[in-house]
Amino acid sequence: MAAEVLDGRALARRIEDELRAEVDTFVGMFRRRPKLVVVLVGDLAASASYVKSKAAAAARVGIDSEVVGVPGTTTTEELISLVRDIAVGRQGPADGILVQLPLPVHVDTVAVLDAVPPDQDVDGFHPHNAGLLSQGRPQFVPCTAAGVQRLLIDAGVETAGKHAVIVGRSDIVGKPLALLLAAKPPRTAAPGQGGGCDATVTICHSRSADLAAITRQADILVAAVGRPKLITAGMVKPGATVIDVGINRVDGKLVGDVDFGPVCEVAGKITPVPGGVGPLTVAMLLANTLLAAELRAQRG
Ligand code: GUN
Repeated sequence: MAAEVLDGRALARRIEDELRAEVDTFVGMFRRRPKLVVVLVGDLAASASYVKSKAAAAARVGIDSEVVGVPGTTTTEELISLVRDIAVGRQGPADGILVQLPLPVHVDTVAVLDAVPPDQDVDGFHPHNAGLLSQGRPQFVPCTAAGVQRLLIDAGVETAGKHAVIVGRSDIVGKPLALLLAAKPPRTAAPGQGGGCDATVTICHSRSADLAAITRQADILVAAVGRPKLITAGMVKPGATVIDVGINRVDGKLVGDVDFGPVCEVAGKITPVPGGVGPLTVAMLLANTLLAAELRAQRG
């Protein structure tokens, strides 16, 4: 039986509808629009295309955005100084700042990301925000991890007591998602609303022995490594939910980390690439930008 294909685009459109209404309320209260500034370094076509889709999505919900493009030869020090200038802003500070990754190899990526003030860190990459998430009191959660959680909730996937296996240990996806899935849901929120998922989580990586034996135990299998078709049908437990975070370009086509066709025959639910997790990453960025604007407005 073929798996149910989870439509990330449709869910992202619904989230955008909610956000548009919330942005309208914000504008009514504070007489300004939330603002996102994206720093784009160099001329990587894929990065330029992602940034374009982020700006277009911001416009759809009424968030102002600005893309600050700088040459690929820009140094670490110049980028840090640029990020600091954007943070205080000549025409008023940005609510959210995002430095599009990857940065050129000569740049110290961590140093540049650390220059984004935690309260403008809509990527959720700053150690302050990573620390809050690890302590179970998240503020800005990395967008892809938040998007995967939202997708699972929306699809009605049971997580409490289930075994989630994440293939990939990146700071951007694997680690924050593991924290979200393993965390306790907050007592004050409705089930699955902005808190943990009560899952049992295993993180696998390139040195994990017998990866297939581990992935076959997963009720929820998340592939986030950037290796085309790494997850084959034989690595999936029948009926499992398979979330494909991979975005790989093969012969000019976008493919995920999951061998989609054959895995569809085994999984219960599956996300496609494109049209699965990607649109949710963008929707969560917009949600984080609105949150940053609200927090700034409250601070006065
Ligand atoms: N490049 C690929 N994904 C991301 C992301 O989530 N944030 C940033 N800043 N760059 C990326």
